[in-house]
Amino acid sequence: MEAIVFEEYGGPEVLRLTTADEPHAGPGQVRLRVRAAGVNPLDHKIRGGAMREVFPTEFPAILGSEASGVVDEVGEGVTGLAAGDEVFGFMETGAYAAYALASVVARKPGELGWDEAAALPVAGETADRVLNQLAVKNGETLLLHGAAGAVGSAAVQLAVARGVTVIGTASPGNHDYLRALGAIPVAYGDGLTDRVRAVAPKGVDAVFDAAGKGALPASIELRGGTPDRIVTIADPTAAEYGVAFSRGGDRDASALAGYARPVAEGGLRVPVARSFPLADAAAAHAESEAGHVRGKLVLLP
Ligand SMILES: NC(=O)c1ccc[n+]([C@@H]2O[C@H](COP(=O)([O-])OP(=O)(O)OC[C@H]3O[C@@H](n4cnc5c(N)ncnc54)[C@H](OP(=O)(O)O)[C@@H]3O)[C@@H](O)[C@H]2O)c1
Repeated sequence: MEAIVFEEYGGPEVLRLTTADEPHAGPGQVRLRVRAAGVNPLDHKIRGGAMREVFPTEFPAILGSEASGVVDEVGEGVTGLAAGDEVFGFMETGAYAAYALASVVARKPGELGWDEAAALPVAGETADRVLNQLAVKNGETLLLHGAAGAVGSAAVQLAVARGVTVIGTASPGNHDYLRALGAIPVAYGDGLTDRVRAVAPKGVDAVFDAAGKGALPASIELRGGTPDRIVTIADPTAAEYGVAFSRGGDRDASALAGYARPVAEGGLRVPVARSFPLADAAAAHAESEAGHVRGKLVLLP
């Protein structure tokens, strides 16, 4: 099958379009003919070797943990899914490929594009998990760093749906975007604490750091000096500050189906910033690594 393979850690150029062996569905798995694969910052962190302690890579390797596509093989013990079903979910083999295997998928509603469906799993699961860990509730105020990214966009929507006031950080060019999602935008960088205090004079009840760009000291200050109710998904200095780092989570097909519902019924939409042909995975990685994607980048095999 056609796939993007890399055989050593390195820059985007190590990603090469080539042929690889097709995977086959094992017990509990389905195989998807991939129609769209989400690109996550984790992918370039793995490719560059930054995650080698946590996710050691066996080469040759194929990246990609989320996709949408058509079921074309059904493994032993799988019920309720058949060849031809249009689904999306978390992949257990690399999604930057013509075929990938999964055991947690949900049906893709017809009104959702392949690219839009591929953008939902990681952002939806991560945002949901962290909001639950922070236990934010109706009437509270949440400070969200990195609100315009994929996880941030999902978190704004889910928090607003809970009745939470969201103060989201982004560069000024993304402020109208954040307002449209229902957040109060604030620019990140020097002077952040004053800008947040100006819009939240009573303080913030919780902080979700989806950027990992050094905002933990300011977050602790805004929480009145405590790391309590601050969670980061991306700042490697979390432990130094006593801040909780959240990673991985329960992958749940019914939660996936919930994200795909119409927005008016509590669903989510993670905007697709740009779609690339599979062959242009290196260009997608370069854009992801530059760190200013609004929503999600997607590859189309
Ligand atoms: N631990 C986990 O379970 C988990 C799960 C998923 C993702 N992650 C990690 O979480 C991070 C976010 O993932 P993602 O997919 O949402 O990334 P993403 O979509 O690539 O995030 C890009 C966004 O970051 C914003 N940004 C850049 N610099 C910023 C700063 N200094 N302060 C605030 N926002 C800033 C950009 O906004 P502007 O363009 O306006 O600058 C852009 O919208 C990544 O590091 C990823 O690896 C962790």
